[in-house]
This record gives sequence, C-alpha cells and structure tokens, in this order.
Amino acid sequence: MSADDRDMPAPPVEGATAAGEIDNGPFAARQQAITTQKAIQQMTGADIWLKALQSFVSLGIADTLDDDEFRTSDDLAKVCQADPQMMDRFLHAMHAYGVMTTDERGRYGLTPLGQDLRPGAAMWAALGVITSPLWQRAGASLAATICTGRPHALNGEATPYPLVAADPGLAGMFATFMSSRTIGLATALAARDFSGTRVADLGGGDGTLLSTILAGDQRLTGILIERTDVAARAATRFAERGLAGRVDVIADDIFADTCPPADVVIAASVLHNWDDASNLRFLSNARQALEKGGPDAELWLVETLLPGPGIHTSGIDLDLRMMTLFAGGRERTLPQYQELLTQAGLTLIGDESLPGGFTLMIAITGSD
Ligand SMILES: C[S@@+](CC[C@H](N)C(=O)[O-])C[C@H]1O[C@@H](n2cnc3c(N)ncnc32)[C@H](O)[C@@H]1O
Repeated sequence: MSADDRDMPAPPVEGATAAGEIDNGPFAARQQAITTQKAIQQMTGADIWLKALQSFVSLGIADTLDDDEFRTSDDLAKVCQADPQMMDRFLHAMHAYGVMTTDERGRYGLTPLGQDLRPGAAMWAALGVITSPLWQRAGASLAATICTGRPHALNGEATPYPLVAADPGLAGMFATFMSSRTIGLATALAARDFSGTRVADLGGGDGTLLSTILAGDQRLTGILIERTDVAARAATRFAERGLAGRVDVIADDIFADTCPPADVVIAASVLHNWDDASNLRFLSNARQALEKGGPDAELWLVETLLPGPGIHTSGIDLDLRMMTLFAGGRERTLPQYQELLTQAGLTLIGDESLPGGFTLMIAITGSD
C-alpha cells in the first residue's frame, strides 16, 4: 500500500458517493490524480520492461545457461562481455521481472519464462514479431489509420501475411508466436467429443491445433488449408508427429470454395483478420463443407471476444492491433459473431471459454 493509498478513504463504487449521487468534488479529483500517476507508472514500466527483454535477448544471457544451471553475476558478465556492476543491477531487475531466479548462493538461473526467451522459443518469437519493423511501423501509424480508415504499413496489401511471407526470419517467428498462442486451446479442443471423423482446420497455421487433435484420437483424419508458405510448415509438423498419412495439407485460399466435406470445420483466430463481407464468403464456404459432411456436422470458431464498454481485456488490445495490421480486421462481440453466422445460414448453438482468453463458438447449418 502506498502512502497515498493509506491516506485515502475507501473509494466509492464507480465514482458514486455512499448516498448514491455522483461525486464531482475534491475526492473525485484526487482519485483522478492517483489514477493518472498509476497510469504513468504502468506506461513507463511497460516501456522499460520491453526494452529489458530485448536486451536480455541481445546480450545472449539465456543462451549461456542450461535449464538447471546457476552462475554468478560476475561470471555472466564475463561471458556476455558486460560491465560487472551494470550486469549485476540488470540481473537483479530480471529476477524481479520473473525472468531469472537465484539459488541459495545468490547465483542466477533461468525461470521457465527466461528459458522461453532463448532463440526459437515462444516468448523470443513473440518479442521478435511485436518489435519487428513491420509491427512497429503499423503501431506507429495507429493515429493515421484512425483518421483515414485504413492501415498504413501494408504497402497496399489487405493483411500483413504477404509481407511476413517475404521475410523468412519474421515468418518463422510469426509461426512460433501463433503456435504458442494456440497450444493451450488445442489441448482443450482435443479433449472434446468429435461427432464424425473428418476435421478441417481452415487457416490452420503451422498445424499446432490440428496435430494435437489428431494425435489424441486415432479415428480422426484431418484437412488443413493454408497459404502456400505456411502449408509447407504444417506439412513438416504433421510429418514430425507421424501424422502425415492422416491429413491432407491443401495450399489454397480459404476464400475459395475448395474445402472437402467435413464433420467439424475449425477456424481459429481467422475471422478477426477480415471484414464482414469476406467473413460471410468464408462462412458460406464452411457451411457447404458441413452440409456435405455428416448430419451432426459442426463449425467451431475460436476468437477473442470484444468485451462490453469500459472493460479492458486482451480483446481490446487485439482490436487496436487488428486496426493497424488488417484492412477490415477487427475483434467482435458474441452478438456480432452470432449475426454473421445467421447471415451465412448458420446457427450458434453454444459458446464456452477456452484457455488464453479465447472463446469457442459452436454453430450448425441452418437457421433457428
Ligand atoms: C492469426 S493466424 C491463425 C493461425 C491458426 N489458426 C492458429 O490459431 O494458430 C491466421 C492464419 O490464416 C492464414 N491465412 C490468411 N489468409 C489466408 C488465405 N487467403 N488463405 C489461406 N490461409 C490464409 C494465415 O497464413 C495464418 O496462418
């Protein structure tokens, strides 16, 4: 508790006094000052945290330590060719950030988060993507995007995907980043009951989700449709997991009417990249694949929902990200997805929360 917090009376709910009327007096002004102070701390903290993570990666600290190895600060300074005192202060901060831990002799080792900052790991990839010139350019043009109604960093493309594909380093990091977002929900989806045996994952990325589902149930076969460059990554993943014989990897456009019949069609983090018109085309194609599938065929949409007014969730941050990187891409509320499904001749029959802040929306063909 800070000194300011101690001085404060218990805050009234939502700016209202105990008697219920709105408090416009000095109390409200004081609350506002504290809120601003906290916001400034959060903002400056987030900025230096990101820079610290980038420095941790560029100093190569995680590369010098095995998972269960501990080394002194002086030792790490020597290996990383750093000033010993600066390194000691930096490691103290990385310990506080949960990136490093210490043993009983005060030597430093990596936490699981620190291990995830090794080249090729999930946090390293996410950091690499969001600090890449493309993502940074897109974020910096948010105000221009708000004024003109279109993203400014895409060189005329509708999505960043062609630009990502043209940069193999960024493409690799993006695939790992997406895969790490998907692993938690993949396990949850694989545990569900599957009616029928054919599972199609449209825009299925590097196959993290579909390979987890197929590995969990020998009866199932899969179809994955992706852009050519990403389809090649998925084919490699299926081969590595011994699943190549049970899955058709199709390098094609998800908006082409080419999905074979399926009992379950999955689209995870796909619809939020597109405008309503594109999504209606996509959903109509998915409906046709389901109609050619079994009588109990289902569409499984996975998205991060936009919360109600005044509520901050990752859906809010993602919506701004979509604004800067996708022409027409946006997060939506559950009623907005329901409306899209209805327009495409599908009916939402259920929704449930998944790990990672995602929501599963289940739809069937036909209308109520
Ligand atoms: C946000 S990622 C989600 C990937 C995966 N479903 C997941 O949850 O990890 C969207 C995916 O859609 C793919 N995609 C975008 N446009 C596409 C198109 N026109 N045809 C096929 N795939 C496309 C991208 O390559 C990307 O892998």
